[in-house]
Amino acid sequence: MEARKGIFAGDNPFEIARRWLDEATKTEINDPNAIALSTVDADGLPNARMVLLKEIEDAAFVFYTNYTSAKAQELDHAGKAAFVMHWKSLRRQIRVRGTITKEEGPQADAYYKSRSLKSRLGAWASDQSSPLASRAALVTEVAKVTAKKGPNPDRPAFWGGYRITPVEIEFWADGEYRLHDRFVWRRAGPSDDWSVTRLNP
Ligand SMILES: Cc1cc2nc3c(=O)[nH]c(=O)nc-3n(C[C@H](O)[C@H](O)[C@H](O)COP(=O)(O)O)c2cc1C
Repeated sequence: MEARKGIFAGDNPFEIARRWLDEATKTEINDPNAIALSTVDADGLPNARMVLLKEIEDAAFVFYTNYTSAKAQELDHAGKAAFVMHWKSLRRQIRVRGTITKEEGPQADAYYKSRSLKSRLGAWASDQSSPLASRAALVTEVAKVTAKKGPNPDRPAFWGGYRITPVEIEFWADGEYRLHDRFVWRRAGPSDDWSVTRLNP
């Protein structure tokens, strides 16, 4: 197996992902941590939407959302998800596929607390993905929860994190004349070793 050099160097895909995100944080105009999160509904129909990747841990990727949203229902039903992140400034992408668990403990509390008060109240006010009669109805709901919850709202039980534990991570970088570089890291399960394969572009 050829040695991986430069931006692909390293024996730990989470470290490579962190390194690429750090670089993108310097070059992207906004939201370098945006990921297109892909799920499937109960009929097997795929779905995708952007969310923000909040943590790259030693063995997983974490984002936060509403647990009654459409995506949460799809995640809970399938127990699996995929995401892709693409940086136009770097011309690189990372693709991830894996299994899902909820993060609704102290880590979710800590992240919730780190958000602005308006965002924390917004999480309380929004019944994400359900029909909304008007913008005014949402504003009224925000005023209601603001009065009720005060300046230090607790994390709603219906809002928290999801952790994606990957079985596949692919690093892609643009090459001249569409001769891109691709390295896919695969493993059978979270406690198995990774095998790394270079793929045709
Ligand atoms: C750049 C960007 C970042 C977003 N980040 C989040 C996020 O971190 N969590 C979230 O619940 N929704 C986020 N959203 C909104 C989602 O794309 C989506 O509209 C919402 O979560 C409802 O999706 P669903 O109905 O499939 O559950 C983001 C949207 C954009 C464009």
